[in-house]
Amino acid sequence: MVAQLRAAGCVFAEEEAAELLAAATGPAHLASLVGRRVAGEPLELVLGWTAFCGLRIAVEPGVFVPRQRTALLVERAVALLRATSRTPLVVDLCCGSGAVGLAVATALGPVELHAADVDPVAVRCARRNLARVGGRVHRGDLYAALPAGLRGRVDLLAVNAPYVPSAAVALMPVEARDHEPRTALDGGPDGTVLQRRVAAQARSWLAPGGTLLVETSARQAPRTAVAVQAGGLRADVVRDEERDATVVLGTSPGRRVSRSSRSAMTHAVTNRDGSVTR
Ligand SMILES: C[S@@+](CC[C@H](N)C(=O)[O-])C[C@H]1O[C@@H](n2cnc3c(N)ncnc32)[C@H](O)[C@@H]1O
Repeated sequence: MVAQLRAAGCVFAEEEAAELLAAATGPAHLASLVGRRVAGEPLELVLGWTAFCGLRIAVEPGVFVPRQRTALLVERAVALLRATSRTPLVVDLCCGSGAVGLAVATALGPVELHAADVDPVAVRCARRNLARVGGRVHRGDLYAALPAGLRGRVDLLAVNAPYVPSAAVALMPVEARDHEPRTALDGGPDGTVLQRRVAAQARSWLAPGGTLLVETSARQAPRTAVAVQAGGLRADVVRDEERDATVVLGTSPGRRVSRSSRSAMTHAVTNRDGSVTR
């Protein structure tokens, strides 16, 4: 099995073989799992789960596999909400498997959690993952999926919308390109089409002092931040070089963010031309 996996280009063939062996219910099932992996399917989809923020997240074919860099968005969300005395209202927009919402809810304890995605496969997968924290999952285009009663009440709006520029999708690793839906990756010509749509309406959904968190790339962060500012929110950029992770925060006017969470941020100011000064 190890030789087969190695020949197919799996760098960690021994580790993968052990995982596949543990997941298989019998020899025929094992042969089918190995066959799928050798054919190039991502290990996470073959196993049916991935590890994210210390949790086991169910993933199924056709769903975006949560990336480790997205833990930065979860950490910022948890830091912002930890000091909240009442049960916070959290929305995971473009939720995919629901990994972000699940990680935030698990870290914080009781939250009112809503998640939404346009893709029915993602919605089904997120419902599986979020059942354990009582999260509700809606299907539809961005905010159109959400119950109208959430408008103006959201304490935290976590968004990992597709942000790969259309022309760069073809340059992604083959596992993503061939096994994740294009709707989960393609962020339009400059990568920020969905982010701009999210930012334009975020303020009307946020509670006073609520926060929008948008994952983006280091390169696109200035454009994401400009979109967030154009939506009437104060924009801050948080960057973690080690994980190559970038999050833009948009704070709605009102109650100030707690002092402890502000001091942990890399503060950055977005200039009018879109460049970022730290
Ligand atoms: C990059 S994936 C992120 C998934 C998940 N948040 C995560 O971090 O693992 C982007 C997700 O956005 C969803 N999506 C794309 N366009 C959308 C739209 N217009 N409205 C809602 N969801 C959308 C895709 O189906 C996909 O699940």
